[in-house]
Amino acid sequence: IAFEQNSFPVSEDQRQEILKDPGFGKKFTDHMLLIHYNEEKGWHNAHIKPYGNISLDPAVCVFHYGQEIFEGLKAYKAKDGRILLFRPEANAKRFINSAKRMAMAPLPEDYFLQAVHEFVKIEKNWIPDQSVGTLYLRPFMIASTPYLGVKASPDYLFMLIASPAGSYFSKGAKPVTVWISEHYTRAAPGGTGEAKCGGNYAASLLAQQEATKNNCDQLVFLDAGEHKWIEEMGGMNIFFVMDDGSLLTPPLGGTILPGVTRNSIITLAKEKGITVREERYSAEQWIKDIELGKIREVFACGTAAVVTPIGFVKNKEGEYQIHDGNPGKLTQEIHKMLVDIQYGNATDTHQWIQEV
Ligand code: COI
Repeated sequence: IAFEQNSFPVSEDQRQEILKDPGFGKKFTDHMLLIHYNEEKGWHNAHIKPYGNISLDPAVCVFHYGQEIFEGLKAYKAKDGRILLFRPEANAKRFINSAKRMAMAPLPEDYFLQAVHEFVKIEKNWIPDQSVGTLYLRPFMIASTPYLGVKASPDYLFMLIASPAGSYFSKGAKPVTVWISEHYTRAAPGGTGEAKCGGNYAASLLAQQEATKNNCDQLVFLDAGEHKWIEEMGGMNIFFVMDDGSLLTPPLGGTILPGVTRNSIITLAKEKGITVREERYSAEQWIKDIELGKIREVFACGTAAVVTPIGFVKNKEGEYQIHDGNPGKLTQEIHKMLVDIQYGNATDTHQWIQEV
């Protein structure tokens, strides 16, 4: 991967200021990585260069038909200074699956991993301390052929950018309130729900605005067929802790994003002896169970959200408090188990960690 150093990097003082309180997705590091693809040449011209605007023909396919996919993963700074990645191969594999669903060229897993490792090495001074957060990595790919016919693009541009990140929710680790979206849905069977494509997130924005209008932080989507079964949130998966101590999460079935955090939590919980049920659960039953005191805890999970407690849920009829509205015991335990592995504070028995 060719490297062109940024001659005008962010000043050391400014960087330190950003790293103290980065927020989420607002500031970017000094460089970006690009790899081009063409049907004839394959993947070529991999390079890292100063972060900045890119120039594209206004006719490129991505602007018109939305052929775009992305990933989200993080680089963590361990107490001893080591730089760690959490299951990056899982992101590489999902990126391939997303590419296939969107008829794009799949970036080979080893290219993805090499890109992430080399880029993080260069931007290592941008990783916040453990007490603040992580360096959020955003690999993405766009269709880059200038052509207005509706067909798969023969050219693609893969890019990787990085953003120092604190908590995704401005409330930090405080419980969030969620809105049940009864009208808008996220994904239909046979659609693109399990692909990490920009379109899924674009389609969530109006529903998120409805949630915000109702003073909620996030929304919960129901299935597109019956508008009944809980699927996932705007940009994260959801788990319920039932009164028998079991964990319940909606099953993957093509319409739900297969979260790396979701999968890791299922593995960790099972190892702890917790029963994990990947089963359909209706919004109606959820409200009933809250009223009957049968729900102990609910939490959201994702790379950006990590493990975020949900304290309240709202729909058109009213607002319901989950247990005492505070972060639950198991939610906090799962959060700790996960971040201890991610930051290198706990033994990595699963070979989930890659050192940069
Ligand atoms: C992530 O969790 O990394 C995502 O891509 C979801 C988005 C809401 C930030």
